[in-house]
Amino acid sequence: FMKIRKIKDNIYLAGAADWDRRLFDSLIPLPDGTSYNSYLIKGREKTALVDTVDPATVDILLEQIKNIDNLDYVISNHSEQDHSGVIPQVLDKYKNAKCVVTPKGKDLIVEHLHVNPDRIKTVEDFETISLGNKTLEFIHTPWVHWPETMVTYLKEDKILFSCDFFGSHIATTDMYATDEMRVYEAAKRYYAEIMMPFRTIIKKNIEKVETREIDLIAPSHGPIYNKPNFIIDAYKDWISDTPKNSVVIAYISMHGSTRKMVEYLVNSLAEKGITVYQFDLAVTDIGKLAINLVDAATIILGTPTIHFGPHPNIIYAAYIANAVKPKAKFASIIGSYGWGTKAVEQIAGLIPNLKVEVLTPVLCKGLPLNQDYQSLEKLVETIFQKHKEIGVLQ
Ligand code: FEO
Repeated sequence: FMKIRKIKDNIYLAGAADWDRRLFDSLIPLPDGTSYNSYLIKGREKTALVDTVDPATVDILLEQIKNIDNLDYVISNHSEQDHSGVIPQVLDKYKNAKCVVTPKGKDLIVEHLHVNPDRIKTVEDFETISLGNKTLEFIHTPWVHWPETMVTYLKEDKILFSCDFFGSHIATTDMYATDEMRVYEAAKRYYAEIMMPFRTIIKKNIEKVETREIDLIAPSHGPIYNKPNFIIDAYKDWISDTPKNSVVIAYISMHGSTRKMVEYLVNSLAEKGITVYQFDLAVTDIGKLAINLVDAATIILGTPTIHFGPHPNIIYAAYIANAVKPKAKFASIIGSYGWGTKAVEQIAGLIPNLKVEVLTPVLCKGLPLNQDYQSLEKLVETIFQKHKEIGVLQ
């Protein structure tokens, strides 16, 4: 496994690359694995560890720090177990160490890990701790993506330890984000899945951390950014209120009718200069779907009807879309039914969080006929006009 690696004098990258993990939270696909980064900072007087690792990789972290005789602080930027999970073992090994968290984090660490509250030190927003010649400043950044989250700024070295914030699910031997195309997609996937619902507050958090001069952003998933603007600018684009000129079509087809409708829509929208992302939910990686929901101006769900309602995979996709709250301005539903349907009403009830204008749905009985294609063409024309109105299509 990966040995501890020097970033700069007295600052080290520890933790584990989890090459083979393919599912996170038993929900999110991880095509590139992930990493749990932990950072060791040795000051002249005191030593700190920033974040730990997922309990599955506890042995790796303990091996990496086995020659460290004294640890004064274990900083917990975020209480979720993939970072905090090994805090109990670290506190066990270093009897004088304190776990440093936000006040909200204290409750979570006690409840989730049964850490003795006496071992916990809470820090207020912008509070600092001196390690001697190195100063850690704690900046509260709530809701990236839990209520208690903070980042740790190492003042003298201008390093921001950001935990999930700016992170990417990617296992790599590269210490830095050198393969930017690959890291961009992995970071966007991660943003889409867990940060997107909080984009308004994330905007404030970006402004807050930008008040500091930053040379390196060291997240607790994925490689370190030695060009911080690469990821900060990407985040600014993702959180902006302005969508892009794209349509996401997520669909299921049982006997091919809905698929014919989808193919018509995709071709016709493309002819009008609109980018379309087509996802068959029977085979789609929902992370890919989420990535494209970040920017889409319009979302279309295509469903057959089964037991009067939408296909269960569509219900799942609608639930996920409602949970991640993309910035889309328009939505519609298309599909086919055998003999009767309540699909539109049922889907509409599943997406109360989406602040979208619903464009007239197109449902047809059986195989689509000319009149159904005409209705689809009307929908395309409406989408074209709407994209023009909001200025994403010139
Ligand atoms: Fe990487 Fe929210 O934990």
